[in-house]
Amino acid sequence: MAATQIGGGPSRLSAMSAPRRKPVPLPEARWPSREEAAGARLFQPVRLGPIEARERTWVPAMVPWRATEDGTVTPENLDWYGRFARGKPGVLVAEATGIRDIRSGPLMRISDDRFLPGLRTLVERVRQASEERTRFFIQLIDFLTVRRRPEPRKFFARYLKIDADHRRRLAEHVGEERWLHASEEDVRTALLGADGDTQAAVLTHRELRDLEYGYREEVGDTHLPHVAELPTVLPGLFADAAERARRAGFDGVELHYAHAYTMASFLSRTNQRTDGYGGSREGRVRLALEVIAAVRERVGTDYCVGTRFLGDEVIDGGSRIDDASWYGLQFARAGLDFLSISKGGKFDDAKQPRVGHAVYPYTGPSGHECMPTVRIDETGPFARNVALAAEIRRAVRADGHETPVVTAGGICTFEQAEGILARGEADIVASARQSLADPDWFRKARLGQGDAVRRCVFTNYCEGLDQMHKQVTCKLWDKDFDPDDASIARSPDGRRRLVPPPWEPPA
Ligand SMILES: Cc1cc2nc3c(=O)[nH]c(=O)nc-3n(C[C@H](O)[C@H](O)[C@H](O)COP(=O)(O)O)c2cc1C
Ligand code: SF4
Repeated sequence: MAATQIGGGPSRLSAMSAPRRKPVPLPEARWPSREEAAGARLFQPVRLGPIEARERTWVPAMVPWRATEDGTVTPENLDWYGRFARGKPGVLVAEATGIRDIRSGPLMRISDDRFLPGLRTLVERVRQASEERTRFFIQLIDFLTVRRRPEPRKFFARYLKIDADHRRRLAEHVGEERWLHASEEDVRTALLGADGDTQAAVLTHRELRDLEYGYREEVGDTHLPHVAELPTVLPGLFADAAERARRAGFDGVELHYAHAYTMASFLSRTNQRTDGYGGSREGRVRLALEVIAAVRERVGTDYCVGTRFLGDEVIDGGSRIDDASWYGLQFARAGLDFLSISKGGKFDDAKQPRVGHAVYPYTGPSGHECMPTVRIDETGPFARNVALAAEIRRAVRADGHETPVVTAGGICTFEQAEGILARGEADIVASARQSLADPDWFRKARLGQGDAVRRCVFTNYCEGLDQMHKQVTCKLWDKDFDPDDASIARSPDGRRRLVPPPWEPPA
């Protein structure tokens, strides 16, 4: 999702762009023989509350931008998830799926029973393609309004509400008393034509942000009735969505408490709501626990319910690992069946978007930590977030809970995954981009065919497509396919295949 410059200069609000460092080489990969794989921890079952996953491999949520504009499952969604299922991971998590009936582009939705037929077909496809080896979860998300960065002319003419404070600050800044009594029209015209310093001196911080990045709601905007009411409304909406997921046949739900979205914003240390749902840790976690309780009450204890949340927000004033460990403990005590740990991905430090585009939470330092590339720093992206998962797991175990912990971030070799499990840093290993590059990679490793793995290069071509709201693909997928082969689904320009090439093990 994505902002403005006044007077054509750089944004006056903090925004850092990705450092251009030398790429760190991919780790060497030693692949197991079939026999070694059979005894490997990675390929042993794991209990997730009421169910078991056949192995400890996990494909975390990745939005592919393939639903209809109203959020209905399409044949392209079926092909996408069906293809991941052919790799037979222990768990496959369907993309962040909206729990509210609002427009959000071609992302799946579960906000009404009308979505059930499509979701049921999706579950069936995954079941068949994985030969019932894969547990299929769906990630449930709520998000607040984010608008595109406006044209300055429009912003000053239509969006900015002029008041006495603007007149006073303008008069003080330029040293001319006449602005105290100027007409609204004159103030608007003056601000549009003013230099950046004047605009920054006259607008509030929030107005400047609306101008430079686009309007964006926050959980602290309790002057807006629908934001004030979130604690009343969200438990019911999550519970409705979880019940639908169960009716559609999903094996479980993942409550999206991570990244830039509503629930993560409640958990954030930056949440200063004064209605009992912000401020202290107890206040910040309150809604998360109320959502869990409502979901549990609705779906029962015999249905798998977990969450994805942040081990570190990686923003100034944000939550850190001590908060996250405490949250993990509360979630385990509340009876969640798994804890999946992510990092960063916030709007707060995102790069300024171009006019007409929306701010995208994976463009600043926190976003780089969420989907780290080979240029992130001298240590590279590889298994970078494991220490966060390990710390949360320690806190949960010390309190006597066996809740499994999932780690993700730059994991792309068998040895990395096996080492994480052997050291007890996590119970399950998730790989998003490596699975996108090669959805058969777990299967290849299991079958002793690791040399055939197409290895992710971690340069984020896929994430760039996500940012542009284009159908996500991987740059490593075959580009030399037969253009006349109607069985290969392609992007609208015909140049990219939409599903990775097939793979079958040698006879
Ligand atoms: C194209 C793309 C879409 C993503 N969509 C989601 C999402 O819907 N929900 C989510 O929690 N994470 C999402 N992520 C983040 C991944 O699940 C994962 O946490 C991140 O890519 C780091 O793991 P990796 O290094 O294995 O890729 C997405 C990542 C990519 C590349
Ligand atoms: S596009 Fe690049 S970063 Fe994304 S999955 Fe493919 S190789 Fe990995």
